[in-house]
Amino acid sequence: MKALILSGGKGTRLRPITHTGAKQLIPVANKPILFYAIEAIRDAGIQDIGIIVGDTAEEVRNAVADGRRFGVKITYIQQDEPLGLAHAVLIARDFLQDESFVMYLGDNLIKSGITKLVEQFKQESPNSQILLAHVKNPNQFGVAELEDSRVIRLEEKPKKPKSDLALVGVYMFDKNIHTAVRSIKPSKRGELEITDAIQWLIDNNFKVLPHIVTGWWKDTGKLEDMLEANRMMLDLYETDIKGEVDANSRVEFKVVIEEGAIVKNSTIRGPAAIGSGAQIINSYIGPFTSISSGTQVINSEIEHSIILENCLIEDVGIKIEDSLVGRNVEVKKLNEKPKVYRLLLGDNSKVGLP
Ligand code: TTP
Repeated sequence: MKALILSGGKGTRLRPITHTGAKQLIPVANKPILFYAIEAIRDAGIQDIGIIVGDTAEEVRNAVADGRRFGVKITYIQQDEPLGLAHAVLIARDFLQDESFVMYLGDNLIKSGITKLVEQFKQESPNSQILLAHVKNPNQFGVAELEDSRVIRLEEKPKKPKSDLALVGVYMFDKNIHTAVRSIKPSKRGELEITDAIQWLIDNNFKVLPHIVTGWWKDTGKLEDMLEANRMMLDLYETDIKGEVDANSRVEFKVVIEEGAIVKNSTIRGPAAIGSGAQIINSYIGPFTSISSGTQVINSEIEHSIILENCLIEDVGIKIEDSLVGRNVEVKKLNEKPKVYRLLLGDNSKVGLP
């Protein structure tokens, strides 16, 4: 069995971060989202993984390389345009051959992993098996209708949902999916939709089974979801302090401080993670915050946020909250008269002022 991870796409909902980087490499609890997917696939016993890459191919290649350090073998498959999830299957034909495979959306996180799904698929040998979860607002998802323990219909964001079972971003397929993706036409938004390909399987009497996830899962395509995923993941970690914490600092609840990090005269209230070489000085880091490697926080307070690598946050008079800050960003009080805001912001940036 093989695996196909989708790590291309445009990531428009996470601009401006995605103008310069892959959303799948944004760290959640200081580990790139994509790494959780690779580890879940490896833990399910699959080593042969194809990764679909788009504009951010180089960054993904640099981060994952040949996969050896995860104990897997990676093949990169270039998608020149994000023409849909089923298009990704179409262009992966040479890599996949006729083997069954798991398709995993590279921006999704599933706490319980996919081992049970893969085992059930191997045991029951349907043509496809799709991961589903009960949700409160099914009209905002792709929704599956079941009959006699089979999936009989999929509907994208239905006005009147027939169930509360939303599609989670993991799917199992046998070789018949290749006929399906070649048989469907692009949707109104111009993409080859995986839901249409699965519906094609159903309509042509192939067996599509559901597999319902217990425990949480998250599609991290939007800021709020990314912060929620960070919250959920941080909560799973136990305290592990490898960096330096001076006697004037307090570290409370679950906190990970990586090697080479320095905490001086500060309070870190977990769940929180401080990356290697980060410096937290005269500051407060509150619950559900991830500070990446090399970032300096000086005389400032941050809570419920993700701050990426090599930033400088200094003398910010008001607590920073619910924020996602990209790499090499500087947020710093200007000690000048007259008082001014001085901004250099990328396209689609958002700044909330008190
Ligand atoms: P989406 O989140 O549906 O699409 P997107 O990443 O382009 O984001 P946005 O809607 O904000 O513009 O994609 C789900 C996953 O699949 C994500 O990891 C990107 C990947 N993907 C591809 O690799 N190729 C594609 O053609 C598409 C549409 C998505």
